[in-house]
Amino acid sequence: MSTVDSLPKAELHCHIEGAMAPALAHAIAKRNDLTLPASLFSEQGGGYAWRTFNEFLMAYDGAAGVMRTTEDYAELMYGYLAACAAEGAIYVEMFISPDHAIDIGLGYAAQLSGIAAGIDRAQTEFGIVSRLVPVCRRHLGPDKALATAKLVAAEPHPYVVGFGMAGDELRHTPADFAPAFRVADNAGLACTVHAGEVDGPKSVRDAIDALPVTRIGHGVRSIEDPALVAELARRGIVLEVCPGSNLALGLYPDAVSHPLRRLLDAGCRVTLNSDDPAFFATSIGNEYAMASAQMGLSAQELLTITRTAIDAAFIDDGTRRALHARIERGS
Ligand code: ADE
Ligand code: ZN
Repeated sequence: MSTVDSLPKAELHCHIEGAMAPALAHAIAKRNDLTLPASLFSEQGGGYAWRTFNEFLMAYDGAAGVMRTTEDYAELMYGYLAACAAEGAIYVEMFISPDHAIDIGLGYAAQLSGIAAGIDRAQTEFGIVSRLVPVCRRHLGPDKALATAKLVAAEPHPYVVGFGMAGDELRHTPADFAPAFRVADNAGLACTVHAGEVDGPKSVRDAIDALPVTRIGHGVRSIEDPALVAELARRGIVLEVCPGSNLALGLYPDAVSHPLRRLLDAGCRVTLNSDDPAFFATSIGNEYAMASAQMGLSAQELLTITRTAIDAAFIDDGTRRALHARIERGS
C-alpha cells in the first residue's frame, strides 16, 4: 500500500446521484420495473454518455430518475460510503437533491430516511462518518430554490447540516438566490454554492458578495483573477476542488494545467473531492492519488487538505474533534 493509499481522507463535495455507477442504475431500474434508454450509457459500456456540461446535467437527471424507494437511496448511500471507507475516507459530506425525490413521488422525508439508514449502516460497519447538504439547482430558477430551502428548513434532520446550490452556473445570478439562502442561513444551515466551474471568476465574486457562504463548490476559475484569489485566501473561504471532474468536463486539458497547486501556493484553503465519481471515472482515493502523482502534492500537503476538509465540514465541534483525533492517529 502506498503512503497516499493509507492517508486519512475526507470529501465535502459529492452528489449522491452522481455516485451511482451504471451497474447500480441498471439493477435499481430493473427492480423498479423501469426501462432506461440505451442512449444514457456509453456505447463501450461501463459509463454514462455525455459530451458537454449540459449533456452531463441531463444524463445525471436520467440516472437519478431510476430511484423510487427509501431502500434505493439506502443502498446507494451505503455502497458509496463503503467504497470511500475502503479508500481511507473518514468523512463524506454528501449533496442530496430533494427535488429529484419529489419528482419521482417519493418525497424528501422518505429520501432522507433511506439515506440516513445507509449512513448508519456504513458508520457501524466501517467507522466512516457522513452528513448531508441538500442542494437546489440553479437552472430550475429562484422560486424552486426558495421552495427547496423552505422545505429543508421546515423538516430538520440531525444529519442535514447545510444547504447548497448546484446546476448550470450560466443561468440566473447568485443574487437571485439570496432569498433561498437567507431561509437556509436563518435555519442555522451552513452554506456553499457552485461557482467558478463553467463560469469565470466573476461568478465566484458575485457568489461571495450575494450569499452567506463559507465554501465555494469548485471555485477553480478564481485563479483567473489574482485579486479574487487573494481575497479568498484572506477570508479563509474554502474551495471544494474536484480535479477529476474538471478534467472530465474539459475545463483543463490535463492535471499539470489544473490550478490546484497554484491555489494552494497562493494561500487558499482547498479540499479534494470527487463531485460525480460515476460520471467522471474517479473516486476520492483517485483524487488524492492524482494530486500526489500528477500535481506534485506531498503526503504532508494531502494531510493538510484532509485537515482543512474537517475544519470546513458543516459538523458540530464534538464530531470535528473526533475526526481530527482520527487523522492524528492515522486511521
Ligand atoms: N450537479 C452535479 N454535478 C455538478 C457539477 N459538476 N456542476 C454543477 N452542477 C452539478
Ligand atoms: Zn458539484
